[in-house]
Amino acid sequence: MNLEVKRGAIQDEQTELIVVNLFEGVAEPGGATGAVDKALGGQIRELIAAGDVKGKLNDISVLYPRGAISAKRVLIVGLGKQEQFNLDKVRQAAAAAARKARSLGVTRYSTIVHGAGAGGLNPSQAAQALAEGTYLSQYRFTQHMTEKDSKETGVELEKVTLVVSNEDLIAPVREGAWAGEQIAAAVKWARDLVNQPANYATPSVLADEARRMAKSHGLKFQALGPADMRSLGMGALLGVAQGSDQEPRFIILEHNPRGEDTPPIVLIGKGLTFDSGGISIKPSDGMEKMKDDMGGGAAVFGAMQVIAALKVPRRVIGLVPATENLPSGSAYKPGDVLKALTGKTIEVISTDAEGRLILSDALGYAQRYQPLAAIDLATLTGACVVALGIQAAGLFCNDDSLAARIEAASKVTDEKVWRMPLWEEYTKLIKSDVADMKNTGGRWGGAITAALFLSKFAEKMPWAHLDIAGPALIDEEEVPYQPRGATGYGVRLLVQMVRDWT
Ligand code: BES
Ligand code: MN
Ligand code: ZN
Repeated sequence: MNLEVKRGAIQDEQTELIVVNLFEGVAEPGGATGAVDKALGGQIRELIAAGDVKGKLNDISVLYPRGAISAKRVLIVGLGKQEQFNLDKVRQAAAAAARKARSLGVTRYSTIVHGAGAGGLNPSQAAQALAEGTYLSQYRFTQHMTEKDSKETGVELEKVTLVVSNEDLIAPVREGAWAGEQIAAAVKWARDLVNQPANYATPSVLADEARRMAKSHGLKFQALGPADMRSLGMGALLGVAQGSDQEPRFIILEHNPRGEDTPPIVLIGKGLTFDSGGISIKPSDGMEKMKDDMGGGAAVFGAMQVIAALKVPRRVIGLVPATENLPSGSAYKPGDVLKALTGKTIEVISTDAEGRLILSDALGYAQRYQPLAAIDLATLTGACVVALGIQAAGLFCNDDSLAARIEAASKVTDEKVWRMPLWEEYTKLIKSDVADMKNTGGRWGGAITAALFLSKFAEKMPWAHLDIAGPALIDEEEVPYQPRGATGYGVRLLVQMVRDWT
């Protein structure tokens, strides 16, 4: 699909379909919708008065102008209540409209930039959100479907034209739309990596994917194998990996636009390509979902791609420890003691608490950069999903200003985060009799004890941990730009945070 920006009046577009919008409760639409209404002799006002068009969020009405204007169809998408309007409503409305166009068999249409007029949003940000919603609404993971009718058969969108009436807005809208396109492409890639079954997306395949991306986007790339890990002392990552026939990888991406040795932002993603639980094996019911256990790693890959594409003027490092967690004759066992990169020792209570182990080595590695901040994303605990539900990530942070940055970015991208505590008192729950700490803290407060465990490897830097076990993969669609399955949660959030960093 192609996105184009042009100057003009939407009612003059010669096309299959034009898209305008309506806020809930508005009886006399103004702006572009008003202009179209006028051209249609008041048809939209009439439909509103009759109660047939209400403007509820993502509601769609299709009108047929029959020659009153050049377009064959007019689609009105609801933006919901004006008081609740924000960038995410643009994302949603654009997605709802794009899907409807597709189901109508329309491959090309013209739209106004929702929110840039009466909505009062920043035109560039609105265009970015519109692009994100439009592209992401088209996402399907069909790679392994060989039969025609099980595939999505609808038409593919070819071209969407953003029609802007004000000359001054052309440049910002074009810039926003382009950024949105870059972001959507990265989110799609992240979703693909997460949806990809574990027999395809192995640690070395993840490394290959990252290498390919790094090459095409001008990032530095390095993938460490078991020998490098041994010489560095990554005993925790190696411990988890030792039950699998697949070699682990420690993937390092670097964006350094000025080639300077300045303190970077380090993004870390859990890259567990399959989590069976290991010797502390998980119940088989639902175990197939554990292919999503590299959702944090996929988010970091996606974010690094966008950071490179947008040439963000800041040094950023991406670290993804990647491995499988499987039971076998060589697997690590409950009671084993592992030595992490920082030298701290860990008693393994559950081999299913493997995420914090591989992250402890990644955090230890991150500390060597003396970063401005390190942010890790991980599908870490079921407990976090119990606490916050599937739509939000738990945010744990040892630095209030870093937490504020993440919360601010989250408001823009609508990837929900909720601050959770790192109470020192709970540290006693991960005290071990035989090592410096143990890798589980018992039944209660599981997301907190997991985060506390990580905090012990991030004492020397501003650090945030996002537990994304809930939002990484969803069983049901919540918004029209996010079908069920992998969401790509975190890509947009990380990009927003890094772009806003001053
Ligand atoms: N990858 C899982 C967490 C998870 C659970 C992600 C559900 C997505 C959905 C993690 O490795 C894990 O197994 N955590 C355990 C920790 C426990 C053994 C302390 C859990 O949450 O049960
Ligand atoms: Mn696990
Ligand atoms: Zn896991």
